[in-house]
Amino acid sequence: MNILAIESSCDETSAAVITNGEIRSNVVATQLIHTQYGGVVPELASRAHQQHILPVVDKALNDAKVTKKDLDAIAFTRGPGLLGALLVGTSFAKSMALGLGIPLIEINHMQAHVLAHFIDNPKPAFPFLCLTVSGGHTQIVKVSGPLQMEIIGETRDDAVGEAFDKTAKLLELPYPGGPLIDKYAAAGNPDAYSFPLPEMPGLDFSFSGIKTSFMYFLQKQVRENPAFISENLPDICASIQFTLVNILLKKLKKASRETGIREIAIAGGVSANSGLRKALTELGQTLNWNVYIPAFEYCTDNAAMIAIAAHFKFLENDFCDQTVSPLARMDF
Ligand code: KG4
Ligand code: ZN
Repeated sequence: MNILAIESSCDETSAAVITNGEIRSNVVATQLIHTQYGGVVPELASRAHQQHILPVVDKALNDAKVTKKDLDAIAFTRGPGLLGALLVGTSFAKSMALGLGIPLIEINHMQAHVLAHFIDNPKPAFPFLCLTVSGGHTQIVKVSGPLQMEIIGETRDDAVGEAFDKTAKLLELPYPGGPLIDKYAAAGNPDAYSFPLPEMPGLDFSFSGIKTSFMYFLQKQVRENPAFISENLPDICASIQFTLVNILLKKLKKASRETGIREIAIAGGVSANSGLRKALTELGQTLNWNVYIPAFEYCTDNAAMIAIAAHFKFLENDFCDQTVSPLARMDF
């Protein structure tokens, strides 16, 4: 069984082929055009998806040594994401499925981030908790089966990836700043500066307050010493990263305590953060958790995760029809 999967929710155009649950190819074209604007420009993202989608799909089929005639289904990200960007992948998938006379599979992007854990070994056992952290979302998901997921905690305002990126912008680092904060933090002291952690009830998160306190802190320091940022960049990045990771892990600990689940995974772009990966590994050893951290290539947006999610849906005969649209919100 061969499925072609397409991801176009934000600024990565990606296609992958999966055969009987094994990823055969995963091609990702990252849109570099947004760097000069300091963030993703939706209209430019849609146009870049249109330019990339055909060569990316062609390469995914070639790399997998699969022809269009060998395909049994086409999967695509229906949401959440940028509407214009989603429409490119959705329209492409629909027309290809119609032309080939094969079924369509719609995929929820956030569920796919979680299911990236089923691409390689070791795989988490059900039920497990997944902290899904990306540019648009911050969620704690209770996963009872491949397609049985429940969000038990989420951000009430900004996503943690956004907090990384917006803070990086204040530090005059280019977009996306998350990986650069990670890079500079490696040489810095995480205790150099401290920030108050937000008080948010239950398992929900909030990042807007901490983002503002980073901003006031930097403004005050720069008023006193205009070279403050350039002189202290590693320490600033390490302290900010330490604070954001602490906020995430505090809630993850609470979620594990409340549910009694000790199978713990992370997913999404921010799961590539080395501070988070290290702190979670250490916490897991202390609390006797089984910790699952995805390979770097499956943390940020990619179609391999869409393909593995589609594999599970194909096994359930869970197909959609040609009227499906990213205009309607997709259930989790
Ligand atoms: O999952 P993803 O590729 O796209 C969304 O679905 O949003 O996540 C992108 C986010 C961006 O905010 C980016 O800065 C962040 O993931 N990110 C990181 C790192 N790598 C990517 N944040 C911190 N440290 C990293 N190493
Ligand atoms: Zn994502």
